[in-house]
Amino acid sequence: MSTRVFVLVVALLSAVLAATAVGGYLLWTRGDQGAGAMIGGPFTLVDQTGRPVTQDTLKGKWSLIYFGYTYCPDVCPTSLSVMSQAMDALDPALAAKVTPVFITVDPERDTVEQLALYHESFHPSFLMLTGTPEQVRQTAKAYRVYYRKAENDSATEYLMDHSSITFLMDPNGNYATHFGHDATPEAMAETIGKLVGK
Ligand code: NI
Repeated sequence: MSTRVFVLVVALLSAVLAATAVGGYLLWTRGDQGAGAMIGGPFTLVDQTGRPVTQDTLKGKWSLIYFGYTYCPDVCPTSLSVMSQAMDALDPALAAKVTPVFITVDPERDTVEQLALYHESFHPSFLMLTGTPEQVRQTAKAYRVYYRKAENDSATEYLMDHSSITFLMDPNGNYATHFGHDATPEAMAETIGKLVGK
């Protein structure tokens, strides 16, 4: 074998090996749950009473998770109302197995006290979570949630751009399904009921 052919063969073999490695890695990370396997993960935050909450706190129950902020003029309150109504529409035995969770993307204004106040407007079983900007950033990253402060001159009056998706996670903290911002309480309760009641 000439040196040139040898180099060509080595290059080809390397390419095949690299492709196999990448393919195997993708199969491994995707698992059998599709892209959903990539949603969720470790986090550390505090709830509206100041109690520390991690991913382990949520285990043992299903969680219905939404990211937003309390100063949101319309989208967030609507989503939290839909979640609250879905909780009310569920059979009480099934509702007892689900924790609705609101996670702020605006930790600078959404203090524990602010969340405690906001909590009064929605379903009593809600956990409302905040943390340091870094803790919130890491949590949002784990759930592939996008957020950004909208450009504004004011330090206290501003809007946040953010994803509006409600995630249903199973009692092991794995992604089960999600709902878009147009989901009705009835449709949400029906889907949750089917999965939780299985
Ligand atoms: Ni919002």
